[in-house]
Amino acid sequence: MTKKVALVTGVSREMGLGFETAKQLLDVDFNVILSARNLDKATKLAARIGATGRQLDVTNEQSVNQLSSEIEQKFGKLDVLVNNAGAYFDQGGQALEADMQFVKDALDTNLLGAWRVSKAFIGLLQKSDNGRIVNVSSGAGSFTDPIFGMQNHQGNVPVYAITKLALNGLTAKLARELKETKIKVNSVCPGFVATYPGTEQWGARPVSEGAKSIVWAATLPESGPSGGFFRDGKRLNW
Ligand SMILES: NC(=O)c1ccc[n+]([C@@H]2O[C@H](COP(=O)([O-])OP(=O)(O)OC[C@H]3O[C@@H](n4cnc5c(N)ncnc54)[C@H](OP(=O)(O)O)[C@@H]3O)[C@@H](O)[C@H]2O)c1
Repeated sequence: MTKKVALVTGVSREMGLGFETAKQLLDVDFNVILSARNLDKATKLAARIGATGRQLDVTNEQSVNQLSSEIEQKFGKLDVLVNNAGAYFDQGGQALEADMQFVKDALDTNLLGAWRVSKAFIGLLQKSDNGRIVNVSSGAGSFTDPIFGMQNHQGNVPVYAITKLALNGLTAKLARELKETKIKVNSVCPGFVATYPGTEQWGARPVSEGAKSIVWAATLPESGPSGGFFRDGKRLNW
């Protein structure tokens, strides 16, 4: 049987969720392509774990299409797409004071990035028997999450939160459009995860736990859900 193939976006840091997700997917026998907008970083991280490192800037259509063509030529399919690239955490920000260029850039990466990459890879995902798209979202994009939700997050993070809310909308729409296919699309909140030094002191949990949530959605069985929002395999409210 040919190995399943997974692509993880936004893997430029050893401490990041993307790198840990790539490691956990390798552990369950995937061929893993880990990608970053800086090729050197992707290549070095990939070499450490026996994955393939590739350049991918999710805001750049040409970069996205180039990687899609390369994966088509090399593997002829894609089984798992993890839309992990994300940034623009505007801790302490105010929506009414937001710089509109910052808002556009945040949407371009956190929402349109996942959208662009999903569009470019959908043909290859359709060639898989178990196509899975995992959008790495956040409780910040939830209306009701008691700690991180729209009305509750202590840091407010309005721009980031709205991009993740929109990303959840993308999940719902893609899942609906792909309902008659084998592809499942879900949003995952990894929880508050220690991807930056010192965040454990603020209650962040180990990266391995956050990535486990992502890998759960990436390896769902045929009977699994689509179009949902999950943390630790448990459904979250929008
Ligand atoms: N850590 C948490 O507690 C937490 C909680 C909820 C959700 N999340 C989500 O989890 C994901 C990973 O976050 P993380 O905590 O592991 O932080 P991170 O290491 O900073 O991950 C973000 C990654 O996205 C990449 N990126 C940014 N813009 C990009 C672009 N245009 N094209 C490709 N890659 C791009 C960054 O690469 P560069 O180095 O090139 O900037 C970086 O590798 C994010 O989507 C984040 O919103 C994290």
